[in-house]
Amino acid sequence: MKKILVINGPNLNMLGRRNKDHYGTKTLNDIIEMMKQEDYFIYDFFQSNHEGDIVSKIQEGFNYDGLIINPAAYTHTSIAIHDALELLDIPKIEVHLSDVNNREEFRKINYISSVCDHTITNLREDGYIEAIKYLKKFFNMI
Ligand code: DQA
Repeated sequence: MKKILVINGPNLNMLGRRNKDHYGTKTLNDIIEMMKQEDYFIYDFFQSNHEGDIVSKIQEGFNYDGLIINPAAYTHTSIAIHDALELLDIPKIEVHLSDVNNREEFRKINYISSVCDHTITNLREDGYIEAIKYLKKFFNMI
């Protein structure tokens, strides 16, 4: 079975307590459980609040068939994460729970989309399920 790496960035371990209008009510564990139900793939889940740890995990992506990543606030700041993603040659799906393009101006700066195959925004936790659907299509599984 194909293996998918799922990376969540800073403060996403606080989902459920964060602004519910933007991020919904589900915790990160709820989202992980939802994703596991989509048992077309084997998933490895990783969350970190530290940029370098996220870069190192992306570098492990060579052992996987696909990547789903929500870099959270690092989306708007991290050239290091951009560069790590650029050299990773597997399908890469960027997910944001919120309508990230229609919030504060500083969230319109995005270092990630240009090095991902697909970006999903504004679907709350369902964005992660959409990412799985995208990968199923990518691998001709539906
Ligand atoms: C986020 C959007 C980012 O701007 C924010 O910093 C996050 C979460 C989202 O999922 O909507 O932490 O990536």
